[in-house]
Amino acid sequence: MKSQQPTLSRHRARTLRKTAYALGAAALLAAGAARAAEVQVEVLHYWTSGGEAKSAQVLKQMLEQKGYTWKDFAVAGGAGANAMTALKTRVIAGNPPAAAQIKGPAIQEWGDEGVLLSIDDVAKSEDWDKLLPTQISSIMKYKGHYVAAPVNVHRVNWLWINADALKQVHAQPPASWDDFFKTADLLQKAGIIPVAIGGQSWQQAETFETVALGVGGADFYKKAFVQLDQATLKGPTMVKALETFKKIKTYTDKGQTGRDWNMATGMVITGKAAMQFMGDWAKGEFTVANKVAGQDYLCVPGPGSQNAFTFNVDSFAFFKVKDPAVEKGQKTLASLLLSPQFQEVFNLNKGSIPVRQGMDLSKFDACARKSAADFSSAQTHGTLVPSWAHDMVDTPAVEGAFYDVIGNYWTDDSETAQDAANKLANAAKTN
Ligand code: BGC
Repeated sequence: MKSQQPTLSRHRARTLRKTAYALGAAALLAAGAARAAEVQVEVLHYWTSGGEAKSAQVLKQMLEQKGYTWKDFAVAGGAGANAMTALKTRVIAGNPPAAAQIKGPAIQEWGDEGVLLSIDDVAKSEDWDKLLPTQISSIMKYKGHYVAAPVNVHRVNWLWINADALKQVHAQPPASWDDFFKTADLLQKAGIIPVAIGGQSWQQAETFETVALGVGGADFYKKAFVQLDQATLKGPTMVKALETFKKIKTYTDKGQTGRDWNMATGMVITGKAAMQFMGDWAKGEFTVANKVAGQDYLCVPGPGSQNAFTFNVDSFAFFKVKDPAVEKGQKTLASLLLSPQFQEVFNLNKGSIPVRQGMDLSKFDACARKSAADFSSAQTHGTLVPSWAHDMVDTPAVEGAFYDVIGNYWTDDSETAQDAANKLANAAKTN
């Protein structure tokens, strides 16, 4: 009689049912994971230096924890020019990677080609509009639809200093250009290379960008590099910035041709050189070398640019693919990128700060916390500016033309600052 079924057997029946259910679910999960693991998500990036590679590894691990296979498409070359060339070849061949590290206006150019995938469903369900500052979410959208996901905020206008080198010459971190050159003189006399730089045009462009911001201020910077105002590009403030930039060259070494940025950072880490103008991906290298911010090395804004913040946001754009399983993987990746856990671990390694607002920064060091505070303050005071040397504002064509002008001016000692300024104004007209 059903109602008088012994308690034990009812219990056993329930246990059996539960076990069967659990086994079934496990089998289903295993099958799902196995299917996902067969699904390769190919990601193009250019993070190949010590700190960068460690950061890329975080993403790979997290994606694999979700059961996908990470297919690494790493193209070496700081600032990504080589990676962008590789990307074009693949897209033209009709075989794009699932995701690629693309930034700023280039996202719009790829959008115009009709090859990007909308990830609006992920962005809407996770409320990205609320999680991201509007200046940044607007860059991630093509015609109002999210097609890319940001991972961080890098500050570009930093000066990295070896603390011992500075102590040796009894100097303080320079706040003005006068201080900077005085300290550089002392370092040179002490036999330390004052400024480490690599002879690649993007490194020269980045250094010049920080000098221009420090010499001219945020309004000048915006007029010149965001609005591309002709009079400002060839005007007296630009000439002064170019002269200051060229003066820095006299404090650099002869071996810079072809040197990668992380090799230059390495010179500051070992004390061979004292200072480097570089975005805070440089901090990733100090971290890998077990150096401590505020103790072994110092981070200060470039002279004169204390109140401003040049931002550079890394992001991944997603390409349309044929396989729906890969598309699922792309959306999983998009969701991971903005997750609090990824934002924390990735940015601790990368040297940047989380792009997701409202994150707890207690695990971050003094440089990162200063970066976060200066970002908000610059936002309030209208001194938050996009980095033109790192793809955040001008079209790739204009940016490339600027690189050439600045690179040639740095190399050619016979070119005057006014000539270079005139060339910048012309370069701004590049289509
Ligand atoms: C990127 C960084 C990268 C750096 C050097 C910048 O343009 O935003 O993520 O670390 O270049 O490669």
